[in-house]
Amino acid sequence: MTTNKFKNRLFGRTRGRSKKKIDIKNYLSKLEKYKLPKFDKNINYILDIGTGYGETSIYLSKYFPNSIIISCEKYIDGNLNLLQKIDTNRIKNIFLHPGNVLEIFENNIKQQYFEKVWIFFPDPWPKKKHFKRRLINVDFLKTIYPFIKNHGQISIVTDSTSYYRFIIKTIFNSKKQYIWKNQHTSHLNFKDYYSFETKYYKKAIISSRKPSLLILEKI
Ligand SMILES: C[S@@+](CC[C@H](N)C(=O)[O-])C[C@H]1O[C@@H](n2cnc3c(N)ncnc32)[C@H](O)[C@@H]1O
Repeated sequence: MTTNKFKNRLFGRTRGRSKKKIDIKNYLSKLEKYKLPKFDKNINYILDIGTGYGETSIYLSKYFPNSIIISCEKYIDGNLNLLQKIDTNRIKNIFLHPGNVLEIFENNIKQQYFEKVWIFFPDPWPKKKHFKRRLINVDFLKTIYPFIKNHGQISIVTDSTSYYRFIIKTIFNSKKQYIWKNQHTSHLNFKDYYSFETKYYKKAIISSRKPSLLILEKI
């Protein structure tokens, strides 16, 4: 069997720009406490992909106390921030996957676990030569499909007009599997739905970019 070590390669940062040293041993032992449980298809899971500093996972844990939130992020500074908030607020329903979301699909049997999937501000990779690094594409929607419960929803927020157009094309090319739920409403604006803010939401507003929310439902 040939293995492709670049298959799930994840581009982008693992550490922040600050030179602050991280006690990796301590980080790994903290993660151990919150590592993914064995999936059980009778439980409602929410998959939160690319959580950055974890604001979305904290929000989800409060609004869906009966669901299990799976926070997926390789960025160590962000995960440390989330772990601290989990401890301070004694949150019991968040677990972390400190790496590429694609590993979750590879390492688990195909069953309908996720009632919701959130992808807030996925890396836009604006240069044409980097489009292939974009997470959301037809293959991704195909891969995730069997893991989503019937009528489960994928919520995507982006402030990149180029990525927005790319996602719309992707939705069109995946129309046998998903319907675009909010396409006929005027409510594509993030703030029409949510009052909390993430780091990348704030960055978008400071730069006068409008974050739009797209909701897909599994057919
Ligand atoms: C632009 S940031 C957005 C962070 C956060 N959602 C927010 O709104 O502030 C995108 C994040 O997605 C993470 N990411 C990108 N691809 C990923 C993947 N395949 N699996 C897990 N995380 C990923 C990156 O590490 C990065 O922290």
